Amino acid sequence: MISIQNVIKTYGSGASAVHAIKGVSLEVAKGEIFGVIGFSGAGKSTLIRCVNLLERPTSGDIIINGTDLMSLSTNELRKARRKIGMIFQHFNLLSSITVFENVAAPLRLSKAPKDVIQKKVTELLELVGLSGRAQAYPSQLSGGQKQRVAIARALANDPEILLCDEATSALDPQTTDSILELLQDINKKYNLTIMLITHEMHVVKKICDRVAVMEEGKVVEMGTVLNLFAHPQTDTTKNFIRSIFDDSLPQGFLERVQHEPGSRIVRLTFIGESTGNPVLAELTARFALKPSILFGNITQVKDTTFGYLIVALNGPADLLDNSLAFVGEQGIEAEVIHYV
Ligand SMILES: Nc1ncnc2c1ncn2[C@@H]1O[C@H](COP(=O)(O)OP(=O)(O)O)[C@@H](O)[C@H]1O
Ligand SMILES: [Mg+2]
Repeated sequence: MISIQNVIKTYGSGASAVHAIKGVSLEVAKGEIFGVIGFSGAGKSTLIRCVNLLERPTSGDIIINGTDLMSLSTNELRKARRKIGMIFQHFNLLSSITVFENVAAPLRLSKAPKDVIQKKVTELLELVGLSGRAQAYPSQLSGGQKQRVAIARALANDPEILLCDEATSALDPQTTDSILELLQDINKKYNLTIMLITHEMHVVKKICDRVAVMEEGKVVEMGTVLNLFAHPQTDTTKNFIRSIFDDSLPQGFLERVQHEPGSRIVRLTFIGESTGNPVLAELTARFALKPSILFGNITQVKDTTFGYLIVALNGPADLLDNSLAFVGEQGIEAEVIHYV
């Protein structure tokens, strides 16, 4: 759906040149919610603005549905952009016209007939939960409501892609969640492809299928959100995950663990379906082990459960080896983090 190929974007030239994007390639599939996360200045806004050529890449290609946007004429590009909606951190509504007219604006630009506009705007306002507010002005709305208007406007021309630049960063946590739920509903209802950028891991965890982590103009890590949670590679990714899901043990935890010599302290990582496995009971039933739970944390990553348990196992070495192999066969990762 979206193919970003070897994109480089440099602002300015010579000694004052800013290398905002230093060679990024990634693919977003139809119907996917793809996140790009990074700290401020990483190049996220520049990258997402390259997708609809609000910023023209210095080099590289942007292929949307098989069409290279870089090769289009101004007219063709204008048409192609109708199929790419965009929303922003500060909503970018026109304050002097009503909610209705803000949503109608793209339809008026594409010269849609009056009755079509009336019907479409009414539908869209209903979709975003603002049916009663058509005649209000943006200044009379809360931040969350403003973003709903912006979403309705972005959907006016039935886009196939929605780009979101920090769409929830100006909102409080509760409103953020309601907007994220709306985006997820729209994604499911229309099979709309969504690419979003954010500096908040919470956003990625709640709605994204896959994510790219950006640092200094480059993608340093990319994969399914679950995989990133389970196996973060870079310090940046680890920090983002720790900001919402603590996977570290309390200070001095392992030193304080008092277990019989020969015990193993094991981290069991549960992803998705494996969370339903009664694995501790199985360790008792099959291997006569008595695992004690020392620590753990569990969370929801989009529609899937993800978490870990730290348990102590005590028994003969070969029995422990076999039991850990068994755990692995159940789709649960087992890592011995400490030998007592
Ligand atoms: N129009 C511009 N002109 C010059 N430099 C820019 C422009 N836009 C962004 N930059 C620079 O490019 C880098 C990446 O910025 P940006 O894409 O906004 O990052 P992010 O969205 O991750 O915070 C920053 O160093 C920023 O100062
Ligand atoms: Mg930005």
